[in-house]
Amino acid sequence: MFITALRQNQAKGNDLPNDLFAAIEDLKRELNAVILAHYYQDPDIQDIADYIGDSLGLSQKAAGTNADVIVFAGVHFMAETAKILNPNKLVLLPDLNAGCSLADSCPPHEFAAFKAAHPNCVVVSYINCSAEIKAMSDIICTSSNAVKIVSQIPEDRPIIFAPDKNLGRYVMEQTGRNLILWEGSCIVHETFSEKKIVELKIEHPQAEIIAHPECEPSVLRHANYIGSTTALLKYCQRSASEEFIVATEPGIIHQMQKEAPHKHFIPAPATNNCACNECPYMRLNTLEKLYLAMKNKTPEITIPEDIRVAAKRPIERMLELS
Ligand code: 13P
Ligand code: SF4
Repeated sequence: MFITALRQNQAKGNDLPNDLFAAIEDLKRELNAVILAHYYQDPDIQDIADYIGDSLGLSQKAAGTNADVIVFAGVHFMAETAKILNPNKLVLLPDLNAGCSLADSCPPHEFAAFKAAHPNCVVVSYINCSAEIKAMSDIICTSSNAVKIVSQIPEDRPIIFAPDKNLGRYVMEQTGRNLILWEGSCIVHETFSEKKIVELKIEHPQAEIIAHPECEPSVLRHANYIGSTTALLKYCQRSASEEFIVATEPGIIHQMQKEAPHKHFIPAPATNNCACNECPYMRLNTLEKLYLAMKNKTPEITIPEDIRVAAKRPIERMLELS
């Protein structure tokens, strides 16, 4: 499929330079652009990015940038968040099909009905959702601040938490609050096999199991540490352990290995013998597509202004509370 896209691009006169890294650096200067990348991106993209981070870090960077162009090497909801915060900047996403199963699991009209069925609730939405869902929310959270944000909501207020049921359950456990959960999930984090993780632990008894809170409870109960991608990265650096079984998208292992080259990181296996632990959406972005997006200034993220304005308020509340 990529070869076909490459041929189409070449037919359109989109010849690729020999040194893509140098060409992207040139375009960055020419456009006054910043490249923001999530840890689940291919190593090449992580290496050319100006900033690599988790969803919270990326939205904080997007909120504070002086660049004219934001090139978002991540998925659609992340680039959309950058656009919500920067309506006058050009926000590019190398592949517009880079979506998210969690965001897709929460269609706006169904969520509107769910919200109406549970009146007077504070709506806390995980940042992995569309601008329309954000516009219907009171506060946005990410995996690194969900517990902190829910803890700050007055005890007497009922709370809807959407769209990730696994993160929601984890927040319920940590805060003791009862959350009304939307039944969404991440296809990547649901793929990890408890049985295979336990078998790996038997093979590597010294290894610590670290997991993202989007994983199912059956995996989280074996974890020595649970956190967002940035939190997992920091934990591997400070832990005395030399070996880790990593239950999140394995793209992050590139940074873990860079920051602790002497340590050993084992990707947690999927239930089937497939590469389903790699996010198929994140991996749609390639260095070639990133170059072409900057060269052609497309695909661009656009959002209807009424939705953007309504979606901005709960994101700003999150940034204030983080
Ligand atoms: P964080 O970036 O908050 O760790 O979440 C991971 C993820 O699944 C992003 O889509
Ligand atoms: Fe969405 Fe899961 Fe991919 Fe993150 S890893 S972008 S939550 S599908």
